Amino acid sequence: MSLSFYGENKSSSISADGVWTNLRIAPEAIHVGSRLVEDAVIVVEKGLISWFGLWEHLPPSYQSMNRHDGNQAMVTPGLIDCHTHLVYGGLRANEFSMRLSGASYEDIAQAGGGILSTVRATREASEEMLFASAEYRLKRLLNEGVCAIEIKSGYGLNIEVERRQLRVAKRLGEKYDLFVHKTFLGAHALPPEFEGRSGDYIDYVCNEMMPALAEEGLIDSVDVFCEKIAFTVAETEQVFRTAKSLKLPIRLHAEQLSDTGGAALASRYQALSADHLEYLNRESILAMKQSGTVAVLLPGAYYFLRDTNPPPIEALREAGVPMAIATDHNPGSSPVLSLLLMMNMACTLFRMTVPEVLSGVTRHAARALGMQESLGSLRVGGSADFVLWNFSDVAELAYWVGDQPTCRVVRRGQIFDEIK
Ligand code: NIG
Ligand code: FE
Repeated sequence: MSLSFYGENKSSSISADGVWTNLRIAPEAIHVGSRLVEDAVIVVEKGLISWFGLWEHLPPSYQSMNRHDGNQAMVTPGLIDCHTHLVYGGLRANEFSMRLSGASYEDIAQAGGGILSTVRATREASEEMLFASAEYRLKRLLNEGVCAIEIKSGYGLNIEVERRQLRVAKRLGEKYDLFVHKTFLGAHALPPEFEGRSGDYIDYVCNEMMPALAEEGLIDSVDVFCEKIAFTVAETEQVFRTAKSLKLPIRLHAEQLSDTGGAALASRYQALSADHLEYLNRESILAMKQSGTVAVLLPGAYYFLRDTNPPPIEALREAGVPMAIATDHNPGSSPVLSLLLMMNMACTLFRMTVPEVLSGVTRHAARALGMQESLGSLRVGGSADFVLWNFSDVAELAYWVGDQPTCRVVRRGQIFDEIK
């Protein structure tokens, strides 16, 4: 496939309207069988998919439309990164070195580093600085076919800086014409000014920050870090109750470092997702199944923290819990800028299959954002969000390590080949 390069944002992108021919559609994209659908066509009109199917069935009314030759490219729906902490100040490469010398993630957190060191750097950064650094990272993901993303707050831990993070997330969506799901993670860590007063901080999260930011339209869902080094199950439940009273969906960082029962609690509140889950127990798996909560698996954090206890994939699979895969991009536990690499790691480290990881970054990732009706698969009437890959086998999506694949991204009906 030969590609040309277009400019940086929507103002310089070009319309994808017309008939896309010579495509091979990945089976997961349309939920049929296990083989690529050869000689396929997608028709795009006014930014929406108006028809797709085999070339030989293309209705005559579309035959005179402008054509885009897909050159045998393999097509998937636009990818979705459904768990990131993309907006933050500073870096934590020093902590990487500390961990290589034997300190654990928990040791570093308890000594005032970890999340709190990013909180210090984020509080010092202006909105423009946060925007510029997050934009650089976002472009890396977009160039690999990401068409929708979740971005959490959680490095401000006061209303002014949580708002700054969420505003940056919103602005990134506007600039790149991309669906951004904004998650309020005020209960990520206890800020130093509340030391020894965890209850007071949770009251501040629930009574002041969450209602005000929700009122400003900056919250699409609410998350908590439920863990021994963060917040208890009781504190998590208080946050969930407030979220419910504001009609905000919830999700949870659960069972990453230990089994606290967080995923079961999240299921009782019909969470959209429970994320990490390395220490998830059997009853919680059943609870997740019953509530339709998506298991968001984050192999980047597992790898980067050199964890050795993988999430219970087989039991999740057996129970029929939908599994999504995400980067968990953050400066401490997952400085990952490739969703394709996460697909690779989910296969190699978690023993997931290629179809599983493809639905993990499309269909199930959409469901983790509550957007399964409009994102994550090809559908007539849906937004034209799809990616043309220069791959012959679907497995290549998860096969290459460290490559920058050649792909052509159609997002919201516009063509983006590469963003510098
Ligand atoms: O998903 N576990 C909590 N939150 C992040 C890490 C945040 C950080 O270390 O800055 C995670 O791994
Ligand atoms: Fe996370």
